[in-house]
Amino acid sequence: MAAYFERVAVIGAGQMGNGIAQTFAGQGSQVWLIDVNEQALSRGMGAIRASLDRLVKKGTLPAVEAEGTLSRIVGGCALSDASGAQIVVEAVVEREDVKRQIFAELDRLTDPKCILATNTSSISITAIAAATQRADRVIGMHFMNPVPLMKLVEVIRGHETSAATTRTVMECATALGKTPVEANDYPGFVSNRVLMPMINEAAYCLMEGVASRDAIDTVMKLGMNHPMGPLALADLIGLDTCQYILEVLHDGLGDDKYRPCPLLKRMVAAGRLGRKVGKGFYDYPG
Ligand code: CAA
Ligand code: NAD
Repeated sequence: MAAYFERVAVIGAGQMGNGIAQTFAGQGSQVWLIDVNEQALSRGMGAIRASLDRLVKKGTLPAVEAEGTLSRIVGGCALSDASGAQIVVEAVVEREDVKRQIFAELDRLTDPKCILATNTSSISITAIAAATQRADRVIGMHFMNPVPLMKLVEVIRGHETSAATTRTVMECATALGKTPVEANDYPGFVSNRVLMPMINEAAYCLMEGVASRDAIDTVMKLGMNHPMGPLALADLIGLDTCQYILEVLHDGLGDDKYRPCPLLKRMVAAGRLGRKVGKGFYDYPG
């Protein structure tokens, strides 16, 4: 199998990072999956095993390919493990200061030709790129959750991103079996500028007693044919991530319609972050 990139590094082994690593390795790349937190790294490797097992059981992936995919992923905790990569995809927490610091370090550690991509949901690609000396090679490569199943990759060009970098990342996404769509660098791009107000409004409906949690989700599932209701989707994404994205939209676009719902903020403060911790709007025992 000829990989589009032979050597790939993914930074952050959370729900997005592990899915991105699985997707690249599935297409033949050697992948370094890097997380500062050793427990998060081993949880991420476990999630990849579980996802591959599901695909094998379903009959959509031969067992031998699942083994091959797993064998191409190496876990590590040092950012310097990314030094040999031809492309790095960063998928750490949705905080601009954290991402800028990682990009400044990656700029120092990697080959100047290496493309530095971010899976950010909403943060300015231009601002992240400005932390490096290679803004022409910094780009948004925004996968959707759950990565192994979702077809879209939103490709976001920062102010200085070159046409060559954009073309390469579009081709790479296609080689991964995804459908890339280009967007410009505005807060939340297209996906979250449209999605997050819906999720936030669902939280307001719950807070104001317009309807119960289950009623709100049922209205959107059966009434609008969404695969899951907005509150269940917020749990899948992570309520902390939803709050960060809404804050970026609110700050960046200056419109109060994007202010995060107080109930959402209270749930984040209470540690009800969604599926990844076992509790959010719903409970996920085990
Ligand atoms: N790896 C492999 N297979 C997986 C998987 C994974 N990570 N997750 C689910 N599956 C498979 C299951 O094995 C199952 O297969 P079968 O139907 O053959 O049994 C199938 O997917 C359905 O899974 P579930 O039974 O768990 O069903 P579900 O309905 O709860 O979940 C879903 C499936 C794909 C998540 C579907 O509900 C869905 O499409 N939901 C909406 C997802 C969405 O909107 N994502 C975008 C979020 S926004 C974003 O990503 C951007 C951002 O910046 C925040
Ligand atoms: P997550 O909380 O599941 O995982 C983040 C991981 O990053 C954690 O394992 C954490 O230990 C690690 N991390 C934090 N700081 C780090 C550092 N300095 N170096 C290496 N690792 C570090 O988050 P997630 O849901 O996977 O989101 C990651 C990124 O992807 C965010 O930018 C988010 O906005 C974006 N995104 C999320 C979704 C979603 O549905 N959750 C969808 C698309 C994009």
